[in-house]
Amino acid sequence: MRLLAIESSCDDSSVALLDVEEGRIRDVRQLIANQEIHAKYGGVVPEVAAREHSASVPVLLRALADEVTGTSDGVKLGTTVDAVAVTGGPGLATSLRVGVETARGLALAWNVPLYAMNHIEGHVYSNWLPNGGAPSPLEGAEDVFPALVLVVSGGHTELLHMKGHGDYVLLGATRDDAAGEAFDKTAKLLGLGYPGGPAISRLAEKGDAGAVKLPRPMIAEAHLDMSFSGLKTAVRYFIRDNEAKLADAAFVADVAASVQEAIVDVLVAKTCRAAEAIDAKTVLLAGGVAANGRLRAALRLALADRMPETRFVEPPMAYTTDNAAMVGMAAVHRIGRDDATDDPARLDARPDWELGRP
Ligand code: KG4
Ligand code: ZN
Repeated sequence: MRLLAIESSCDDSSVALLDVEEGRIRDVRQLIANQEIHAKYGGVVPEVAAREHSASVPVLLRALADEVTGTSDGVKLGTTVDAVAVTGGPGLATSLRVGVETARGLALAWNVPLYAMNHIEGHVYSNWLPNGGAPSPLEGAEDVFPALVLVVSGGHTELLHMKGHGDYVLLGATRDDAAGEAFDKTAKLLGLGYPGGPAISRLAEKGDAGAVKLPRPMIAEAHLDMSFSGLKTAVRYFIRDNEAKLADAAFVADVAASVQEAIVDVLVAKTCRAAEAIDAKTVLLAGGVAANGRLRAALRLALADRMPETRFVEPPMAYTTDNAAMVGMAAVHRIGRDDATDDPARLDARPDWELGRP
């Protein structure tokens, strides 16, 4: 089966083609257009994002048609596609609609089934995608569940109990800022631009993580909720009191490393606690912040120590930030477990679609 997937929930447009044989991925082709325009505003401007998606989604589709069929002929591409998947939510309403409307049109024109997928579920299924040429360690695996998923992105920070494919219970979440937001906001305070996560993690490599004492909100509390907004406030006061030192690269690196360590400490503590609570066979990392090397290493180490029997799976780097392949992968598993499809004549975006809440 060949499945076309489209992602446009926030500020990255992406299309992907997945070749699947008996649930196993044979090939993934993916194109992404990052919207760099938002950097100059210091954050995503919804109206600008939607306009950029409108401009780039058809261009990406034509490029994909070129790659696959050797022509820019959309009809010819359609003859090779068996299903269309699209991110239905959550995300920015106007951004989501660009992908959703494109997918509806294609599913109608090509007369193939349509699958609207949850963006967070897409991040979860990035763990089932191949890493370069190597299949995911989860492909075809049977002893995966119960799994604990740490979802860490720009808009979400959640601990999900994954009982089986497509079956989620929310165990805890941030009560204010998401982890990615904490990276982005503190990076902004340090003058590092947007998005700040990659900049902080790069700088942190040269810094001393113990240099600045920062709070670890809720780390000792037994519940599985988190809070990151206090961290941003603490960094703001610290910078206000040390403004002259911002010109010193070593100082900025120390602050970056300290911020990263505070975020990672909280995420690791809560993830281990949640994994122990559900006696997880597998722990999965998902979302843009999953690209953070320190988070990966710290979680790997903590789990090896506290739950040596538990398998820890990290998504391939190519699929950590928003991408269409993960949305397609989630759809592949949905197709495997039920016959329901979405109606191309009626499908609408679901900006507030939550996973695993009662
Ligand atoms: O999942 P994603 O691409 O978009 C959302 O669905 O939100 O996540 C984007 C977030 C941003 O906050 C970005 O700063 C963060 O992921 N991020 C990182 C790293 N790479 C991206 N945070 C920390 N370290 C990184 N290496
Ligand atoms: Zn995302």
